[in-house]
Amino acid sequence: MIHLKDLRYVRLGTRDPGAAAEYGQRILGLELVRREDGAAYLRGDDRDHTLVYFKGDPTDHTTGWEVADAAALDAAGAELESQQIKVRRGMRGECELRRVDDFITYLDPSGNRHDLVVRPHHSGRRFFAARDCGVWSFSHIGLRTTDAVRDEQFWTQVMNARVSDRIASAALLRIDEVHHKIALFPSTVPGVQHVNHQVHGVDDVMRSYYFLREQGVRIVFGPGRHPTSGAVFVYFEGPDGMVYEYSTGVRLIKPDEEATYRPRQFPFAPSSFCMWGSKPEIPEFRAAESTGARARVA
Ligand SMILES: [Fe+2]
Repeated sequence: MIHLKDLRYVRLGTRDPGAAAEYGQRILGLELVRREDGAAYLRGDDRDHTLVYFKGDPTDHTTGWEVADAAALDAAGAELESQQIKVRRGMRGECELRRVDDFITYLDPSGNRHDLVVRPHHSGRRFFAARDCGVWSFSHIGLRTTDAVRDEQFWTQVMNARVSDRIASAALLRIDEVHHKIALFPSTVPGVQHVNHQVHGVDDVMRSYYFLREQGVRIVFGPGRHPTSGAVFVYFEGPDGMVYEYSTGVRLIKPDEEATYRPRQFPFAPSSFCMWGSKPEIPEFRAAESTGARARVA
C-alpha cells in the first residue's frame, strides 16, 4: 500500500506559459514564484509552488503527491512495478526544478501521469495572493478516468485513498480528513479535469463570481453547493480550456469517523452536483452523464 501524504502540485502543459502565468496571477489570484526553464511557477499557499505552466502539449498534465521519505518512495516504486506499472526515477535536474529531494513518475491505469515526491520544499515566505481572491490553499483535482471502477480500485488498493461518496460509478476520494483530493470524472481520455483552490468563505466565492464575469471569464458551473462535500463552489474556464474551481466549507471526515463512515451513492442527476439548482456546462459532466446512462442501459 502506497501512502500518499498530500497533493503537492499540478503541472500543466501550455503553448503560452507567459499568457497562462498572466491568467494565473490576474484572474486566478495566485502568486508568481519564479519563471525557470521556460515554465512559470505559481502557488496558492505557503508551499514552494503548487501550479506550474510549462511550454508543451496542453493535454500533458502531471500531478505531484508527497510520500513520507526515501524508503517509502523506493517501496512505492516496487509496489507499482509489481502492478506492471512502468516507473521512471526523476533525474537530478528534474528534482531541482520540482524543488524535491527525489521523485518517481508513472502513468495510472487511465494514462494520467503522477509524480511521487520526497521532501518537497516549503517556503519561508508567506503566501501573498496577486488579487483579493481569498485563496488560502491548493486543495484537489478532478481527474479523468477511462474506467471509474478500475481506477477506484487502483486508488484504494494500491494507494491509501478512501471513497467518500460516489456519483454513479465515479468516486470522490480522500487521502486525509478532507472529503476529496481526487474527484474521478469518466471520460474517453486521461487528464486533469479541474484544479481546485480553497477560499476563506462564501463571500470570496461570490466576490470572485462577479469579478470573473466582469473580466469576461466563462463561468461553467455555479455558484452552487455540492451535496457530496457540502462545499460552496464556482467553476470557471482558464487557459487551454482547463477548468478552475474556488470552493469553501468542504466536509472533513475525522479519524474517529473513519471506522464507521460509509460512502453515499448519488445518481447521475444535476441535483447530485449542485443542491441549489445550478446546471454544469462542463463536457465531463455531460460525458459522465451519458456514460452513466449507457452503464444503466447495459
Ligand atoms: Fe472540485
